Amino acid sequence: MITNTELEYKGNLYPNHIVEFTQDTDKLYFTTANGVVLQITILRGSVFRFRYAVNHIFEPDFSYAIDPEGTMGYSKLEVVENNTEYIITTARLSVLVDKMTLRVQISDLNGTIINEDELGFHWEENYEYGGNTVKMSKITQTGESFYGMGDKAMHSNLKGKKVENWVTDQFAYAKEQDPLYKAIPFFIGLTKGNAYGIFFDNSFKTSFDFSHERRNVTSFWADGGEMNYYFIFGPEMSKVVSSYSSLTGTPELPPLWALGFHQSKWSYYPESNVKEIAEQFRQLRIPCDAIYLDIDYMEGFKCFTWDKNHFPDPKRMIAELEEDGFKTVVMIDPGIKVDRDYWVYNEALENDYFCKRGDGPLMHGKVWPGECNFPDFTNPEVREWWAELYKEFMTELGVHAVWNDMNEPAVMEVPSKTAPLDTRHNYDGYPCTHRKAHNVYGMQMVRATYEGVKKYVYPLRPFVITRAAFAGTQRYSSTWTGDNVATWEHLWIANVQIQRMCLSGYSFVGSDIGGFAEQPDGELFARWIQLGIFHPFCRVHSSGDHGDQEPWSFGTEITDVVRKFIEIRYQLLPYLYTMFYKYSKENLPMIQSLVFFDQEDSQTHFRTDEFIFGEKILVCPIQEPNAQGRRLYVPRGIWYDFWTQERVEGGKEKWVIAELDKIPVFVKAGAIIPKYPIQQYVGEKKIDELLLDVYYKEGTETSEVYEDAANGYDYKKGRYALSNFKLTGKENSVTVQLFKDGDFETDYQTIRLNFYGLPFKIKTVMVDNEEIVLENLLLENDHVLRIDKNFTLLHITGNI
Ligand code: NOJ
Repeated sequence: MITNTELEYKGNLYPNHIVEFTQDTDKLYFTTANGVVLQITILRGSVFRFRYAVNHIFEPDFSYAIDPEGTMGYSKLEVVENNTEYIITTARLSVLVDKMTLRVQISDLNGTIINEDELGFHWEENYEYGGNTVKMSKITQTGESFYGMGDKAMHSNLKGKKVENWVTDQFAYAKEQDPLYKAIPFFIGLTKGNAYGIFFDNSFKTSFDFSHERRNVTSFWADGGEMNYYFIFGPEMSKVVSSYSSLTGTPELPPLWALGFHQSKWSYYPESNVKEIAEQFRQLRIPCDAIYLDIDYMEGFKCFTWDKNHFPDPKRMIAELEEDGFKTVVMIDPGIKVDRDYWVYNEALENDYFCKRGDGPLMHGKVWPGECNFPDFTNPEVREWWAELYKEFMTELGVHAVWNDMNEPAVMEVPSKTAPLDTRHNYDGYPCTHRKAHNVYGMQMVRATYEGVKKYVYPLRPFVITRAAFAGTQRYSSTWTGDNVATWEHLWIANVQIQRMCLSGYSFVGSDIGGFAEQPDGELFARWIQLGIFHPFCRVHSSGDHGDQEPWSFGTEITDVVRKFIEIRYQLLPYLYTMFYKYSKENLPMIQSLVFFDQEDSQTHFRTDEFIFGEKILVCPIQEPNAQGRRLYVPRGIWYDFWTQERVEGGKEKWVIAELDKIPVFVKAGAIIPKYPIQQYVGEKKIDELLLDVYYKEGTETSEVYEDAANGYDYKKGRYALSNFKLTGKENSVTVQLFKDGDFETDYQTIRLNFYGLPFKIKTVMVDNEEIVLENLLLENDHVLRIDKNFTLLHITGNI
């Protein structure tokens, strides 16, 4: 075995033998002779935090990523020691800490190794900046796979890749290009059927190597700060993502309209153009809920101003759009134009809110308005000020929502594309340079935006969107994947990125549908819409320097396909809203990669294309031109073709026909899928009946439907309607039990149940143990029933 001292010649320093162990309730401290202290905090039986101090000194314990409202608690903690190691045992895991090297090995209680240090913690002193480059290396287990890490534009399984986290304005990025706009230093490992997660809570530039440089080694390191990571055990991937999400948080429910279809372009102006676009939507009867104003609505690109030539009366325009069912979303960037006649600039200058360089001058850089200074959003006082700037927009003008862009921060005409590294930041009272604050800058900007929008749209709910993000940003804002390109490859990238973000705790995400740069043809646009309607955030956006990218820009055939799919999204709104509810409340990702859905099936470990929308709908986009269909893997279990209702047995590949007006979509047997009638925008119609598509299954399956007032906060006082359905199918009967929770009264009184795949013809129907005359129930088909929404037990039997 190589000793740590022998390794020192490589410039790395290593802990040596443990000389002291102490325990302070849930915190265990192991100190080595050369001054390294390992602190292990037991947060749960399956969630541990590892921190390493060098020279006995820990950094201040502060994190932007961790949700202060997250709760933890463990039931069992035992520490014993033998000659060679300390053994920590909780209700779920056992951790060995080696006495000679401080290396750690984590096993489940059956003795299966889940994760183990290779060289473990080591570091390199950074003479130039002070502090250390902190490093960790682990043994890659045989057959181990890796997932997560935010927006990486590469194969969903990261085995063999090396990636970096440094939020970057990456216009027209390519497949494999890295880093991009987000820094989410969280990955999921899957080994021998067991999933675990590691969240490296360090905001410096971090790197992860998944068996790239050395085949059997997985390592991660940061350019500064502390080796501070959370280890999360599953063994189910859903547990890992859920625990990660309870550490870093999930968002509150958005207004329902935020889940509708949104249309954007750089830029719609003047007012007449905005109106024209809005009118076209209504005229062509293509549902749409929001229209976006990119930078050109501003006067000289100055944030919080309006170009009065193009938008003479924004308040009136926004109100008129609202009357027609459109919400107006406006862009706000971080760069504040250097201009002594500009009140925002003057306020920030007078109050010392701008970032400064190492020796004191203001940090400046070029963005859209020209030279700008940049507020230090890591200063709580600056965030408060920034939040207040939204007051007029939201309360006076009636702006509905805000879009934060360029908040990496992006700086033009400099090689680094961002602020100089010596730029200083407050970092909530832990002053530092941009090396440490860069990755959280955009997060803190959108946090301030969120606070302001939330305050001033009250009693309604806020909706905010950001481009840059760090772990935890999902608590404040939705996001999109930045400046993609109108190519088929980017359609593939969008699919992988959205799945990856969802696995990384960030579900409220979408791509620029159709591509931001360059011009899609109608086919690509249609195929992208078909994917995009199944993403949590659904918006068309484009750079606008080429042709148009509205649903009607590609001829009537494409318009019809696009309309058909946007209508499907609107029908599925209650399903989508329930997905969001489960994400918000139960930490369940809104999109599940197949490996998340069925990790025990090794067929899923390297799949990229297919995904589960919510919990019950399998979707697989068409990702190449001229396709008549495609092969896809249908996960294990019984499924129904969404279009034909044909019953399909999963666990195998299948060829599925999908001409231009279709993509492969399957529904899980036993699922109850709620639908609303098609509306042109959320709230257009009073929902007078809830449609439930019920897919027969032999056996039991549960489904939920969450509803509330679709906006506002009454739901927090119990005014929601959560319907828990339990379906039990037998050879000649189906029972649906309904348990209701919450005291929200939906507008509708009846439910229309549409049964698919029944192996029998309905003969009798019992509602709450009373037989109902069939003729009073059956609608146009012999498999459609209408019953009162307040039933608790529906039992149907039939003749086989
Ligand atoms: C870059 C953003 O990524 C893009 O969406 C936007 O249209 C432009 N900035 C202009 O504001």
